[in-house]
Amino acid sequence: MPSTGTPTHESGQRPPRTAVAHRLLMCRPRYFDVTYSINPWMNPEKPTDTATALLQWEHLRELYVSLGHTVEVIEPVPGLPDMVFAANGATVVDGKVLGARFRHRERTAEGPAYLEWFARNGFDELLWPEHINEGEGDYLRVGRRILAGTGFRTDPRSHAEAQEFFGLPVTSLTLTNPNFYHLDTALAVLSPDEIMYYPAAFTEGSRSVLRELFPDAVIASSEDAAVFGLNAFSDGLNVLLPQAATGLIGQLKERGFRPVGVSLGELLKAGGSVKCCTLALS
Ligand code: ARG
Repeated sequence: MPSTGTPTHESGQRPPRTAVAHRLLMCRPRYFDVTYSINPWMNPEKPTDTATALLQWEHLRELYVSLGHTVEVIEPVPGLPDMVFAANGATVVDGKVLGARFRHRERTAEGPAYLEWFARNGFDELLWPEHINEGEGDYLRVGRRILAGTGFRTDPRSHAEAQEFFGLPVTSLTLTNPNFYHLDTALAVLSPDEIMYYPAAFTEGSRSVLRELFPDAVIASSEDAAVFGLNAFSDGLNVLLPQAATGLIGQLKERGFRPVGVSLGELLKAGGSVKCCTLALS
C-alpha cells in the first residue's frame, strides 16, 4: 500500500473508488474559431481547424457515454465561437440553475442561450443573476460545499448571490495568474472530499484556505498546469484530463483513480479543455 495521504480505513486500506453516473451538457464546436482574445491562450492570428475541433470534441462526448454518463447537447449559435465551453453556461446544484452573466461582451449572448435551454428542458428553479459569474468555470461543487473563483471573471459579489440561492457554503478563492483565469483551469474536484490544484495560480490567502480545507490534495506541477491538466472531470473513479498532463496522470493512478488522457489541442487554442466543455447537470 503506497502512502498517498488520502483518507484511509482503520485497516489502512482505502475504500475502493466507485464511479457516479452524471448527466452532462455539452455544445458541439460547430462554429468554433478564435476571432477575439479574452485570455492569454487566444491568438486570433493563429489558424484554427473546426473539423479537428469537432472530432476531438466528439471523442470526449463518446468517452463520457462509454463511461456510463448521459450527455445532453445544446444547439450551438453562429457567432458565439466560445459556446463550446459549456461549463461557463450556468451552475447547477441540486437541480437549481444559476444563470451565467459573462464578463466580456463577446460572450454575453451565451448566458440567455444557455438559460433558455434549461427553461425548455424541465428545470424550473432558474435564477437570472444580478452579478457577473461564468458558471461552472468558476463554481465547483465539492461535497456539500461550493468553491468559487474570482480575480478575472466572476465578480466576488456573485459568491454571496450563489450562497443565498443554493443554500450551501460558498468558499471564495482568488486567482492571480491570467493564464489560469477560471477556477476550473487551476483546480479540479476528484471526489466529494478530494481536489487537485495548482497553488501558484492563487493568492497567498487562498492557498492557505485550500491547505486548511484539503490538506491531502493532489498538487499539480507548473508543467501539468501549463498543459491544462487541471481542467479535468472526475466521476469519482475515472478522471478525464488532457493527456499531456503526465505527472498528474501518475499521481492520480497512485491514489486509485483511473485517469483517462484526452486530446483537445484545437480547443486549447481558445484556452479550454475537458472541464470547460462539460457542464454538470447532476
Ligand atoms: N475562450 C473562453 C474564454 O476565455 C474559454 C473558456 C474556458 N472555459 C472554462 N470553463 N475555463 O472565456
